[in-house]
Amino acid sequence: MRFYPPRGLKIVKAYMQYVWDEAWNKYLDYYNGYGVGFLGHRNPKVVAKLVEQLGTLVINSPSFDDPAKEEVLRKLPLVLPQKLLNVYFQNSGTEAVELALKLALNYTKRSKVVAFKKAFHGRTLGSLSLTWGSEYRKPADQALYKGVVFASFNDVEEVEKVIDEETAAVFVEPVQGEGGINPADPEFLNALAKRAREVGAVLVYDEIQAGFGRTGHVWAYQGLGAPDPDVLLSAKAIGNGYPVSLVAVSDELAESVVPGMHGSTYGANPMALAAVSAAVEVLLEDDVPRQAREKGKFFQDLFEEKLKDVRIVRDYRAVGLMIGVELRVKPGKYIEALQKEKVLALKAGATVIRFLPPYVTTEEDVRFAVDTLKKVLTS
Ligand SMILES: Cc1ncc(COP(=O)(O)O)c(C=O)c1O
Repeated sequence: MRFYPPRGLKIVKAYMQYVWDEAWNKYLDYYNGYGVGFLGHRNPKVVAKLVEQLGTLVINSPSFDDPAKEEVLRKLPLVLPQKLLNVYFQNSGTEAVELALKLALNYTKRSKVVAFKKAFHGRTLGSLSLTWGSEYRKPADQALYKGVVFASFNDVEEVEKVIDEETAAVFVEPVQGEGGINPADPEFLNALAKRAREVGAVLVYDEIQAGFGRTGHVWAYQGLGAPDPDVLLSAKAIGNGYPVSLVAVSDELAESVVPGMHGSTYGANPMALAAVSAAVEVLLEDDVPRQAREKGKFFQDLFEEKLKDVRIVRDYRAVGLMIGVELRVKPGKYIEALQKEKVLALKAGATVIRFLPPYVTTEEDVRFAVDTLKKVLTS
């Protein structure tokens, strides 16, 4: 079933920021598996850890302990906020959103949920209910959760009106990814947190795309000066290609958990946890957030220099290495042209060309990407 339009490219090998096709043409990969390979394709430290794990224990039942679990529980406090040290692992972003939703409904016994226009939270029925785009919702619209209210992103005045005593949860991406690389205003995030606290709603930050160093801070909300949420969701980069997602919650929410209320056969399997431990090591040893911050700034400066006067460019924004170039037209044919020139990019929103470079990308890569972008946008 072709759910994704084919890009006409067979990739046979990948290493760090590059991939190769059958004819051994090399591409700069800023598509990066929807941002999954943020630490670089086959990052040697992650690969070594996975190989080591493969030699000892590959599966374990969730009721039993194992060294991979103990290690990840030692490592995670190095990157998680102090308030959110109760964790659960599953396999994909959408599962993390489903669990957050279930926890919030169970904890508050309320049914209204606030999400935002242009939000993307996943494609299973609970997470799809929180996803804004009608193109995603259409196939199952009749089955989606009716309790969701969509408010305007970055509209501080609406916050007080829409979040009330009936609200179980507020789901927000501190930087919207699929919606078009839209960072939340610090003022907006602070207003959300304040209002959620006032009415007793659970505040959920979905950092499945933005989190784990990409925006120049371990968590995007930290760079936006926002308070800790009640629930933080991560996936993609946290396993650097090994499918895994993380739900991290406050003590209050964790206390509401009883055995049997949730589960996942593959959740917290030792291979996934080994990948997360290795990813945390890389993040800290290489100071990935700082590199993302500096390289993002380099992108932004080059955009200023090279794209400012390009007529079809409406705007450009580099939130660390979460990068969007907004056009006045649909971006499809330019993304195709970039691919022909050996740069892989993807779309975000209706008109944005998105780059999700791994942190190992070099200044030379960035120059090549921006020059190539200018070339395809002006020829
Ligand atoms: C912010 C956000 N939430 C949730 C998801 C869903 O993650 P997954 O595709 O792993 O289910 C995505 C995927 O792109 C995402 O960007």
